[in-house]
Amino acid sequence: MNKPDSLKYAHQYGLGSGPMSVEPCVSEAYFEREREILFKHAWLCMGREDEIPNVGDYMVKDIDILQTSVIIARGKDNKIRAFHNICPHRLNKVMQPGEGNTRGFMCQFHGWTFDLEGKLAHCTNKELFNDFDQSKHGMPALSADLWEGFIFINHDQNPRDDLKTWVGDYAEMYAGYFDGMSLHGRWSVTVDCNWKNFIDANTEAYHAPTLHRQSLRDSFASPDNPNCAFNAVELHGRHRLGSVYANPGYQPMPIEGKSFTYAATPLYPATAETTANLPPGVNPSKNPAWAFDVSVLFPTMQLGTASGWYLLMMYWPIAVDKTLFEVSFYCYEAETAGDLIAQEYPAIHQRDVIREDMSTLEGTQQMIASGVLKEMVLCDEEITVRHNHKSVNDYLNENS
Ligand code: FES
Ligand SMILES: [Fe+2]
Repeated sequence: MNKPDSLKYAHQYGLGSGPMSVEPCVSEAYFEREREILFKHAWLCMGREDEIPNVGDYMVKDIDILQTSVIIARGKDNKIRAFHNICPHRLNKVMQPGEGNTRGFMCQFHGWTFDLEGKLAHCTNKELFNDFDQSKHGMPALSADLWEGFIFINHDQNPRDDLKTWVGDYAEMYAGYFDGMSLHGRWSVTVDCNWKNFIDANTEAYHAPTLHRQSLRDSFASPDNPNCAFNAVELHGRHRLGSVYANPGYQPMPIEGKSFTYAATPLYPATAETTANLPPGVNPSKNPAWAFDVSVLFPTMQLGTASGWYLLMMYWPIAVDKTLFEVSFYCYEAETAGDLIAQEYPAIHQRDVIREDMSTLEGTQQMIASGVLKEMVLCDEEITVRHNHKSVNDYLNENS
């Protein structure tokens, strides 16, 4: 079995088989097109709804690619809204990045105060402003909506697509999967590489037997599947999903064995029982020789979905050659000490594996920037890489 029957190759998806230009990974002009045409009109994931569960809960985040800072707040009506973090008086930044709970937001410059809906609630010495209509001076809104408990924002107040249209097939593929799992750990890092290269490195499996030969050993490859071919790849419009194979004959190391033994749901490989109740988007081929899926909701939200835990990975472009990467690990509440061990192991293991993934990124970016070679050569299993670059390029061309 060098290729599972459920896996089609890139050329069978109409993605071609020729080399691909790397110009979009180093071109400042292309990056500006991505900013203006794609990111300022894209739905972008900001986290989970249950991170701000109570009225007055808020989060503040600077978003370089949108050239703004954003406040997301839960209002008295329990609705989640997003505003630009700007005071309409002298355009000061109202809040610093972070999170908390409040009854309103006060600008530290002259004391203007905004309610949880972003409306101007108090204007210091209002009588000194001429022809002043307080209702017209709130914090400007961004669009905000929810999918499967994830908060999305859109810089465009009148988005080209509503969120349901944007997620497309993903609307139903994960129904209920994320419910009940909560944040277990989060970390972030800024890496000197293009955001598309970053996603590429984290979403193909061809590298696993080489780059992860020490951390993963033969857990994701076997004599039957030496290149770690995906169990299946699904392309849903601009979104993509690769389902990662697990070697059923893998012999865990002692520490892994302990973790696997105590797991409420085994780690890898999965079993028919653990996959049976998963929604269609998780382990789509329902192959018991399965580790997890790498799934990208266009353009920059990556999900690593497994049995009993998932990773949320967000890529925030800063410059053409700089990207902020945020990783969050979610799982069910531990009920026993054994559960804790079983959860801690994949959380730490995934971090170590991702560090290996990141070890190539700056070297790749540096050598692309050298200009020595203008194209990358992709094998037929690097479907997700082709699809990533093609999806961005198509979006830019279709919306220019
Ligand atoms: S700039 Fe915010 S109150 Fe003046
Ligand atoms: Fe990897």
